[in-house]
Amino acid sequence: MIQNMTDAAMAARANAYAPYSGFKVGAALKGESGRIYTGCNVENSSYSMTICAERNAVFQAVAAGERHFRTIAIVGGRTDDEAESKPCVPCGACLQVLAEFCGGDLPVLLADGVHKLSDFLPSQFCLDEKG
Ligand code: THU
Repeated sequence: MIQNMTDAAMAARANAYAPYSGFKVGAALKGESGRIYTGCNVENSSYSMTICAERNAVFQAVAAGERHFRTIAIVGGRTDDEAESKPCVPCGACLQVLAEFCGGDLPVLLADGVHKLSDFLPSQFCLDEKG
């Protein structure tokens, strides 16, 4: 299971568009249905328009009608070797977006092993009226 998810993240990473940073990221998000949604980072000449791989994967899933998730695998680096060996921790924006749909127990598969979402985001912004 871990290898399948990592392979899917690596395959998505191959499509990353990162001409400015040279840092390619891939994410694979498994829904409760068992379907896997993938995303890669897509950079832009206007730098702040860049979207991260993890948010790309979440938005793909939500657009397909899935809102409950089992696990996410993330790989990132300037080279394939780096992506396979060095953990790529999700940025704060991606953690907040993941927390919108996933509990703190969500397994986050990185190159150094399995973490939990709450390891990286112990608390999150939440509107009172969210329900
Ligand atoms: N990036 C991601 O795709 N995910 C993260 O969680 C952090 C950073 C991307 C954004 C940018 O294209 C490149 O990595 C360097 O910051």
